[in-house]
Amino acid sequence: MDIPLNKGLPSFFSVNDFHPEKLQAECEHQLSLENYPHAEAVEQNILIYQGDDLRAALMDPSKELVLTSELCRCLRDGPGVFVIRNAYENLSHVDKMTKVFQSRIYQEKLDGQAKGDHFGTNERIWNSLQKACSVDSGLCVDYYGNPLLALASRAWLGPGYQVTAQVNNVKPGGEAQSVHRDYHLGFQPEAVSHQFPAHAQMASQYLTLQGAVAHTDMPVESGPTLLLPFSHHFPAGYLAYRLPAFMKVFEKHRSQLAFKCGDMLFFSPALFHAAGANRTAKDRMANLLQVSSAFGRAMEQVNRTQMVKLIHPRLLDRLKEGAISDRQLRDVVSAFADGYSFPTNLDSDPPMHGSAPETCQQLWLRALRERWDSGRLKQALLERTTTRQA
Ligand SMILES: [Fe+2]
Repeated sequence: MDIPLNKGLPSFFSVNDFHPEKLQAECEHQLSLENYPHAEAVEQNILIYQGDDLRAALMDPSKELVLTSELCRCLRDGPGVFVIRNAYENLSHVDKMTKVFQSRIYQEKLDGQAKGDHFGTNERIWNSLQKACSVDSGLCVDYYGNPLLALASRAWLGPGYQVTAQVNNVKPGGEAQSVHRDYHLGFQPEAVSHQFPAHAQMASQYLTLQGAVAHTDMPVESGPTLLLPFSHHFPAGYLAYRLPAFMKVFEKHRSQLAFKCGDMLFFSPALFHAAGANRTAKDRMANLLQVSSAFGRAMEQVNRTQMVKLIHPRLLDRLKEGAISDRQLRDVVSAFADGYSFPTNLDSDPPMHGSAPETCQQLWLRALRERWDSGRLKQALLERTTTRQA
């Protein structure tokens, strides 16, 4: 006799599973603030946190598990989306990064590299993480070492996550996106998604966290992302989001909040969403953060070894000045270095302690603890690459 792990879940989805009224029922849930003790408010069924409150709570190390549990619950069982207002203690880090992005957009245009995105002719910087790192690695320590980025990532993905980032700048008159889900299956044609069994479609949402940092103020007229809270609970959503009946549910129930520069947004990739049209005279710029599970494949290739080399001297300086805590160090290392042991060559890179070979994050933290200079770290990274090759 079969014992179903997910009652009522078919092996593969078919037209029998596309019931817009079921999506509607999910989205009629009303979010209750009392279930989320660290949140400040609920606006349009979206949880709002204050950056100052979360930073203050994090001062007590025992609070981290409480906070990650609450945010995990929000993303998995709750509305699937939360906002952190004033996510940067020092807004100048965001403003300085905006200038780095603007000059990169200008340079890529000059070089004839400017490309649109999946949805039109917005200005894009692919792999803004590594590109910014090669321009100002010190600024990247502050910007990507943000403890709230680490908190949200650990809440959804656990340790060993991989940050990737892409800038999206929507010019005045920029058009709205159509409703969709995100990476992984949100980036596959419908015919391909159909071939994945139902449980794999649902599991894929646990492999990525979608995030965004607002780099400009975003009044509603500028088209900040429209989101449909609770829509990630609808199992067949990766196939159904293109259907007109489901688009109608989205139009009826979607939320849209204004943002201020320095706010952060995080949501499940399975949430129905779409960026709005920019009807203002100003740009709407966001740095889109896509954080991948150690168990998943990220969308972009990122040269993490190069970033480790660029950032190492900045971290050594801060350690020398006593200007960085152990947790901040962990968060920076997590944002840039590879945090997973596999795949590797187990003949030449055998498990030494426990059952997994040393990760690059562990190697880098060891180098920082022992104050290795850049030359020694570079050599160790080179040896690591060689021993891991098949
Ligand atoms: Fe999207």
